[in-house]
Amino acid sequence: MSATPEKLIEMRGVKLQFADKVILNGVDFSVRAQEVLVIMGLSGGGKSTLLSILLGLLKPNAGAVFFKEEDLTKLSRPKLNEARTHMGMVYQNAALISSMTVRENIGLPLEELSDKNASEIASIIDQKLELVGLKDAGDKLPSELSGGMEKRVGLARALALEPELVLFDEPSAGLDPINSKLIDDLIIQLRDKQKVTSIVVTHEMDSAFAVATRMAFLDQGKIILEAAPGEFRDSDNPIVSKFLSSYTDHERSKK
Ligand SMILES: Nc1ncnc2c1ncn2[C@@H]1O[C@H](COP(=O)(O)OP(=O)(O)OP(=O)(O)O)[C@@H](O)[C@H]1O
Ligand SMILES: [Mg+2]
Repeated sequence: MSATPEKLIEMRGVKLQFADKVILNGVDFSVRAQEVLVIMGLSGGGKSTLLSILLGLLKPNAGAVFFKEEDLTKLSRPKLNEARTHMGMVYQNAALISSMTVRENIGLPLEELSDKNASEIASIIDQKLELVGLKDAGDKLPSELSGGMEKRVGLARALALEPELVLFDEPSAGLDPINSKLIDDLIIQLRDKQKVTSIVVTHEMDSAFAVATRMAFLDQGKIILEAAPGEFRDSDNPIVSKFLSSYTDHERSKK
């Protein structure tokens, strides 16, 4: 019998406001190891903010954020930094350092957060470049890359420390269908072959349903629905079904 998958991440009652504007108003959800949770919601609803809280970059005004049993909101700076070495983030805009080559960008977390030597780092960089299909792009600068290549370098960098949890903020936004599918396939491959757990924020419906093992909808600062993909698609929650049907119409009109 296989082991029961454990909760890797859990948010409980998370509240966050910027000045007097309430963004998150009691967010509850959990993610088990090796799941891919897709989070959807309207623009400006707080999805990127939620990812920043999961990474420990933003401290919520209330609530708890458990990562492997430890509440990130209560950890000392060194312990938080240690926890962060187990998480990778793929930023919406790739967020590469423009003066560094692709290799240097991917190696950065290893230089900063691991005690690996230069040849170990070089071999990890080779392996990650291969994984994202960019073996020959190592010496290029970010300005020489297409948007799809930049995203893949961002993913390679997020994977450098072999994280257990990878957070994706709109990984396929702005990509053509081929690059978009490449990223989806990598997310699935990470889950199946490397037992990586992912949280993916996206509003690309095809991608969402391709990668998700579970889906959640954030609205008015709360998760209003959390369900398996089939149940999510058929939900009679009026906000979710309106969102899904308007995106389906929108994507159909693009084809
Ligand atoms: N550092 C900040 N200071 C003040 N307000 C902020 C800050 N970061 C985000 N906000 C506000 O918080 C709200 C939620 O932003 P967030 O970027 O999390 O939304 P989102 O769901 O990711 O949107 P999108 O789908 O457009 O990426 C927005 O109204 C935004 O203007
Ligand atoms: Mg966002």
